[in-house]
Amino acid sequence: MDVAVWDIGYLIASILFILGLKKLGHPRTAPTGNLYGATGMLLAIVVTIAQMDFGLTNNFILIGAGLAIGGLIGYVMAVRVQMTGVPEMVALFNGFGGAASALVAASEVFRRIKLSEEGVTPLPEDLDLYVAWTAIGLSALVGWMTFTGSLLAMMKLKGGVEIFGKWYRTPTWGPEWLNYVKGLILIAIVGLFYMTIKEPGNQDYVIAIIGLSCILGILFVLPIGGADMPVVVSLLNSLSGIAAAFTGFIIGNNVLIIAGSMVGAAGLILTNIMCKAMNRQLIDVLFKSFGGSDKEQVTRTKVGSDPEEVAMICDGISKCVIIPGYGMAVSQCQHQVREFADILEANGCEVKYGIHPVAGRMPGHMNVLLAEASVPYEKLIEMDDINSEMAECDVALVVGANDTVNPVARSNEGPLAGMPIIDADKARVVVMVKRSLSVGYAGVDNDLFYEDKTMMLFGDGKKMMTELISSMKEL
Ligand code: TAP
Repeated sequence: MDVAVWDIGYLIASILFILGLKKLGHPRTAPTGNLYGATGMLLAIVVTIAQMDFGLTNNFILIGAGLAIGGLIGYVMAVRVQMTGVPEMVALFNGFGGAASALVAASEVFRRIKLSEEGVTPLPEDLDLYVAWTAIGLSALVGWMTFTGSLLAMMKLKGGVEIFGKWYRTPTWGPEWLNYVKGLILIAIVGLFYMTIKEPGNQDYVIAIIGLSCILGILFVLPIGGADMPVVVSLLNSLSGIAAAFTGFIIGNNVLIIAGSMVGAAGLILTNIMCKAMNRQLIDVLFKSFGGSDKEQVTRTKVGSDPEEVAMICDGISKCVIIPGYGMAVSQCQHQVREFADILEANGCEVKYGIHPVAGRMPGHMNVLLAEASVPYEKLIEMDDINSEMAECDVALVVGANDTVNPVARSNEGPLAGMPIIDADKARVVVMVKRSLSVGYAGVDNDLFYEDKTMMLFGDGKKMMTELISSMKEL
C-alpha cells in the first residue's frame, strides 16, 4: 500500500493526541480527552502493525502475544488498583515507558552492531553515524534513568518496600558530594557516547551506558524526599516522553516523535506548575537534599471533639470552606463530604472547596474524587483564590489534609519551608478530620492541631463524616 496511507493514519493519531491533551485541561472534558488519546494510541498501533512485513510470521506471533499479555496485565492492574494506589501505578508506568523506549533503542543498537560486523555501516565521518549513535545514547541514558528513578519514586510514594515479609522504609539520602558523583557519571556517559561513535561495533560501551544510566536514575531520586515528590514524579513523566521521542528518531517513527515530544512538553509544564505550587526551584529540588522523609516525633497531646459538638458549631454558620487532602482519598469519604455540604447549603450556608495543587498524591487527585461525588466544578476553588476568603470563613473543615494546611510552611525551616498553604488557620473555627495527631507526607508536626480554635475529630474520614451528618440531621 502507498506509504502516504500510513502517514495519514499517523497524522490522524497525532491530531487525536493533541485534541485529547487539550480536553484533559478541564475536569468536565477530561473523560473525552482520555478517550481521544486512547483512540489515537490504538490507531497508531494498528497503523504500525499494518505496515509491517507479514511474511515474517514469527514476528506477527510475537507482536500478537506481546499485545495480548501486555493488554491483560494492564487491564488487571487498572481494575484492581485502589484509588490511593494510582500515583504509584503512574510512577511505575512512567518507568515502564522509559524502559520500553530504551529497549527499542537497544534492539536498534544490536541490529547496527550486526550490520557493522557484516561491514554494512556508514563511514566514521558520515553525519548519519553521529546523529544515530547520539540519539541511541540519549535514548538509553534518559530511558534507563527514568526506569530506575521511577521505580525508586514509586517505592518512596509507597513509603517503603516489602521483601520476604519484612518492611523496609525507602531511604532519603543525599550528601552534597553526591552531586559531584552524579556529574562524573554524566561525563563518563558522554565519553561513552563518543566511544560508541568511534567503535560502533563494540557493545561493551552500550552496556556501560545502560549500567551507568540506571545508577544515575537512582542517585537522582535518592536525595529527594518528603514534600518534593510531586515535582519528581512529573519530571520523570516528562523524561519518559523525551526517551520515546529519541527512540522515534532512531527507528524513524513520526508518531513516536510527536507523542514523545508531547508527553515531554506536557510533563515539563506540569513540573513547572508543581514547582510553583510548592515554591521550589527545580534546580534546588534536584540538587539540594531537602524534604527528608524522617518523621518528626509527635509528643504533644490534644483532646478530641465529638461529632455532636462539631454539628452544633456548624449549625447556623454562613460560610464553610472544605479542604480535602490525602486522608479523604484513603477513607473514600468524598460522598459523605458532599452530603455534609448539601446539608449546610440547605441551611443557607455558602460552601466552597479549597483545593491545594499538591493535595493527595497526584496532580488533580482531589478534583477527581470530588467530581466522582458530583460536586459542581464551580465550587472547587484554587488555593490562591480561596485564601483571600479564608478570613471571612466561619468553619474550615479539613478532611484528611495535613501538610497543605500546615502553618510551619510559612517559616524558612524544614521540609515544607516556603510551600504555599491553604490558610485554614485564618478561619474562625477549624475542624480537622483525621485519625490521630500523626504527621503528613512531609513528616512534620502541625501546630494547627493544637490551636484553641481547632477541633480535632479523631477517626477514619468516612466514619467521622457519617457521624457528623447524623448529628447534623438530629439538630
Ligand atoms: P498529607 O499531608 O499527606 O496528610 C494526610 C493526612 O491524612 C495524614 O496526616 C493522615 O493523618 C490523614 N489520614 C490518612 N488516612 C486517613 C483516614 N482513613 N481518615 C482520615 N484521615 C486520614 O496530605 P495533604 O495535606 O493532602 O498533602 C499532600 C502531601 O503529599 C504533600 O506533602 C505533598 O507534597 C505530597 N505529595 C503530593 C503529590 C501530588 S502530585 N499531589 C505527590 C506526592 C507527594 P492520620 O494518620 O492521623 O489519620
